[in-house]
Amino acid sequence: MTKRIRKAVFPVAGLGTRVLPATKCIPKEMLTVVDRPVIQHCVEEAREAGIEHFVFVTGRNKQVIEDHFDLAYELEDTLQKRGKEKELAALLADTPGAGNTSFTRQQAPLGLGHAVWCARDIVGDEPFAVILPDMITLQGTRGSRCLAQCIEAHEAHGGNIIAVEEVPASDTHMYGVVSVGRDHGHSFEINGMVEKPPQGTAPSNLIISGRYILQPEIFGVLANVGKGAGGEIQLTDGMKGLSDRQSFHGVRFDGKTYDTGSKVGFLAANVAFALARPDIAPAFRAELKKIVGSL
Ligand code: UTP
Repeated sequence: MTKRIRKAVFPVAGLGTRVLPATKCIPKEMLTVVDRPVIQHCVEEAREAGIEHFVFVTGRNKQVIEDHFDLAYELEDTLQKRGKEKELAALLADTPGAGNTSFTRQQAPLGLGHAVWCARDIVGDEPFAVILPDMITLQGTRGSRCLAQCIEAHEAHGGNIIAVEEVPASDTHMYGVVSVGRDHGHSFEINGMVEKPPQGTAPSNLIISGRYILQPEIFGVLANVGKGAGGEIQLTDGMKGLSDRQSFHGVRFDGKTYDTGSKVGFLAANVAFALARPDIAPAFRAELKKIVGSL
């Protein structure tokens, strides 16, 4: 029996330099895709996958993320007095329950591996999920989003799980890349991984795409892993260390992933998420046709 995944870690301490100047005062996780911040899309994905506790690894100037997941007394009171019951109910439904969130500070952006390590005491001795909030996902053909598919693979294989997606071979140098062992189709054994391999050296075109299930032993490995690619403490290097002792499986997510940490990815996410919303899609599609028609 595999242990149930109850906690998810959201590393949100990065600087977001690729989307400046938007992120000068606003955390990139608070930029909106359609009508909610990027981070809320990620929390919704985690909730759908059965996550109960949301752990945010933040940095300076990120307090607004904590406020976003708290009650907003004055706003709620005003909505109630004005009879805006629907809006009030939607706000309250989106807010995690008391005690279901934890916040810790990374203090300095030393890398994703270091950010995950900062959550060690809050996570404790149980397997947990990691969600990179840059990446937001739309439901796949199997009817679930990416984290739910990772949890399903964890129930089947145990150990550690990494969501992957295909990119053109010319792009692999920008990402963590895995190599494929025994292949089960939707999932496969990972028998190697490398962070940002130099052009032409990647073991496959399957990149690590921002959703993980990790065993708690990762924390001990991350404590000792040195700086890697870009002078940062890399999660991929920690996972590589752990793979000497524990199994890693990849999951080919069958839906769409959008990288909101880049300008073009952010714009594409807004279009795709708006088209996926039944309440907005008809009017938006008409606007989009006018723009596309003029290209
Ligand atoms: P990125 O490298 O995409 O985030 O890290 P960044 O540093 O904010 O982006 P740019 O390149 O400057 O635009 C992937 C994820 O890891 C988190 C980021 O917040 C992002 O969600 N991260 C990264 C940390 O929490 N701490 C770090 O030290 C580095």
